[in-house]
Amino acid sequence: MKNSITQDWWRKSTVYQVYPKSFKDTTGSGEGDIRGLIEKLDYLQDLGIDIIWLQPVYVSPQNDNGYDVADYCEINPEYGTMEDFDELAAEIRSRNMHLMLDIVVNHSSTEHAWFQASRQSKDNPYRDYYIWKDPAPDGGLPNNWQSKFGGPAWQYDEGTGQYFLTLFDKTQADLNWENPKVREEVVKLMTFWAEKGVSGFRMDVINLISKDQDFPNDDGSVLPGDGRRFYTDGPRVHEYVKEMHERVFGPYNLVTVGEMSSTTMENCILYSNPAEKEFSMTFNFHHLKVDYPKGQKWELMPYDFEQLKRLLSDWQIGMQQGGGWNALFFNNHDQPRALSRFTDDTKYRTESAKLIATTLHGLQGTPYVFQGEEIGMPNPYWNDISELRDIESKNMYQILQQNGKSADEALAIIRERSRDNSRTPMQWDDGPQAGFTSGTPWIKVDERYPSINVKQQMNDPESIYHHYKKLIALRKELQVLTDGRYIRLDEAHPQVYAYARVSEKETLVVMSNFSDREASLQLPDDFHTEYVEGGLSKLLIGNTKLEPALQAQTVLTPYASYMWIIR
Ligand code: GLC
Repeated sequence: MKNSITQDWWRKSTVYQVYPKSFKDTTGSGEGDIRGLIEKLDYLQDLGIDIIWLQPVYVSPQNDNGYDVADYCEINPEYGTMEDFDELAAEIRSRNMHLMLDIVVNHSSTEHAWFQASRQSKDNPYRDYYIWKDPAPDGGLPNNWQSKFGGPAWQYDEGTGQYFLTLFDKTQADLNWENPKVREEVVKLMTFWAEKGVSGFRMDVINLISKDQDFPNDDGSVLPGDGRRFYTDGPRVHEYVKEMHERVFGPYNLVTVGEMSSTTMENCILYSNPAEKEFSMTFNFHHLKVDYPKGQKWELMPYDFEQLKRLLSDWQIGMQQGGGWNALFFNNHDQPRALSRFTDDTKYRTESAKLIATTLHGLQGTPYVFQGEEIGMPNPYWNDISELRDIESKNMYQILQQNGKSADEALAIIRERSRDNSRTPMQWDDGPQAGFTSGTPWIKVDERYPSINVKQQMNDPESIYHHYKKLIALRKELQVLTDGRYIRLDEAHPQVYAYARVSEKETLVVMSNFSDREASLQLPDDFHTEYVEGGLSKLLIGNTKLEPALQAQTVLTPYASYMWIIR
């Protein structure tokens, strides 16, 4: 199973993730729109972005900000029109960039015409588009599976006396992939967008589409015991993905990334090894659970640094050996800002944001930048639950209190964990509402925008923005970033994460001090002898005024992070 690294252009690309609701508003509605993205394409081109992942802009009641799709082939009027979309696609192409759309087909909105028909009667032709079950013999729920947003995963339908499955919000009904007609519809809608010339798809929670058809109760023997083991990387998932590849991804030569919830490396290798003809690459989330005590997202603990490093390393080595390909990310629209979570977003904010960037962009895979990350936007400080918008946060705020937490305790947890942490408006300048809207933003703008914004950073060559720009350019220039072998160098150091990427011609070393204290790292002797001694090392990028040479022993100031090349 060999990689065709040179053929796959996206292996040298960087993807920029646009959360359209919060990107740029051109109408004064307080919500971003497609024309806003068109306005900012020059900005993304300047940054060096190759692929823009545009999150869902389809018709939707927006209960989950567009991940509840009511019509897969129409644009939500709040975001614009199909003409706007076509113009966007053309403008992206004319800049030699690529557009990647978000495809959400584990579930649809209950407002989708298919679901509306499906709930009409048990013998409606659309009934089998969704997963309907009789109540249990005692009249209760069909099984004990839990929704990812809290509460049971089943909703009762009075009209027909059955339950339907909803793994997310109660208005997001899971589609029944066992039904070939559903798979045909998915091919059809993806073909619609492929025909419009988009370059690829990001596939939402795509590893959940195949459910164990016995729908067993979860006895809790495997944590977290919410039923996920019966539908995660389920029995027929690879068959379904191969079908999509054969019918759409392959024929249209698309770049695809699968969002893999609670997955395994074994499965991600299958999903992303080109020989398998499934996806180009996969997102996994294991490294973003290192601050979940026993896997519990809604409890707090300081993150486990050693575990973070181990997970990143294991996935680097394992995916490389298996010929898979990682989508690299620390941030997205479902995660608090990594800057606030893993480093220092106040005193050392600039150093920290650059450290996060260098650490990630030295790894093997395709890096993703989530809007605002490139200017070091931190988590906003939430004063009150009324400021939050996310359905998951609002549900959990209630559930935490039902489970005995005080309102203050619940808010303290939400403040750290909420998905809204990353969803505040993009900070363009120091004008009203950070230049995001002339109206009232749908969610508050972070107070720190006067000093953290795009305009200021574009004018400052030392800014976080310029740091990202440099890293993105390096990925295109240096072959070792694409295919160099990964070696971990820090031997369980309590403050430092260090690794190398090694190829025949050159060696890259990345070293980051994830603490506010000075640290020093001794390179392993064998590594030093083989790769450093005798070579010429050059600092490629760093985040301090110093320009240290790579030595057997290197001292790192607080949050210092460097990347060297040795030739
Ligand atoms: C994915 C999306 C998330 C959404 C969920 C349900 O995890 O990233 O935002 O809520 O799927 O579609």
